[in-house]
Amino acid sequence: MRGILLAGGTGSRLHPTTRAVCKQLLPVYDKPMIFYPLSVLMLAGIREILVISTPEALPAFRALLGDGADLGIELQYAEQDRPRGIADALVVGRDFVGDDDVALVLGDNLFHGAGFSDVLAHCRATVEHRGGAVLVGHVVADPARYGVAAIDDDGRLTAVVEKPADPPSDVAVTGLYFYGNDVLDVAADVEPSARGELEITDVNAAYVRRGTAELVTLGRGFAWLDTGTHASLLDAAQYVAVVESRHGVRIACPEEIALRMGFISPAQARRLGELSASSDYGRYVVAVADQADRPTPTVLEAV
Ligand code: DAU
Repeated sequence: MRGILLAGGTGSRLHPTTRAVCKQLLPVYDKPMIFYPLSVLMLAGIREILVISTPEALPAFRALLGDGADLGIELQYAEQDRPRGIADALVVGRDFVGDDDVALVLGDNLFHGAGFSDVLAHCRATVEHRGGAVLVGHVVADPARYGVAAIDDDGRLTAVVEKPADPPSDVAVTGLYFYGNDVLDVAADVEPSARGELEITDVNAAYVRRGTAELVTLGRGFAWLDTGTHASLLDAAQYVAVVESRHGVRIACPEEIALRMGFISPAQARRLGELSASSDYGRYVVAVADQADRPTPTVLEAV
């Protein structure tokens, strides 16, 4: 399975902060926002990842992440010259995906919770075994802001609707999607919506109609955080700060995940930590590398 990380858009709801800096490069407490969705793909065991962003922002992403070799992964980059919609990532990424299955994650979505590795393994295995789509749901207080799942009495997904005025449930469809290879054709057939975008919800609705979409709803122990507004960005940063200081572990530390997934050696993780040795983050990576002989399973489970 290959991964696509969509990190473009205008960030207009965060202006003026995002006038000169791409939203997904902004810090969420102690690390750039893109580390969070990157960690999700890595935790799913995906090592070939395409980062899609604007022509202006791509050089900064390259400077931050390079070709991925430091993390034992392969990163490629592609331009989305204007925000044509989330489903456009599957058009831009067509050649990169090739004959493979694909996981798509939005660059501004943060996930955290014990057992997340198992959820990711389930989503990936489902798509690899029977194709179709696996969507990840989360109960929210304000579903009208998101794609929303309609679910029947047996818990089956019956429809997905984008930002409905009258939401059929309180389960939002998060920005993490797993698809069989045929999604490339499904996305190629999507027409622009009334707001002029290729909607990922239209892709998902096509799978629901075919009866090959599964919804995996994250339980109460999971946090799914939005960074769309100044207030939600601050909430996300505070969440990360509280959890990290209380537990003494970092959420979404790609160096640590690369080490624990076996993508890199402890010596390589130590080298990466030493590059940021003046920060608590860098010292944490060094400490994790030093403790690599005594991994703690609970840390593995959460990003
Ligand atoms: O966060 C989950 C939600 O993401 C889903 O529940 C919705 O179904 C889905 O449509 C999307 O809703 P948003 O209103 O949050 O989408 P937004 O336009 O804000 O884009 C989400 C991210 O994707 C954002 O960081 C910018 C990036 N993006 C967006 C578009 C439309 C791109 O990189 N390129 C694009 O063309």
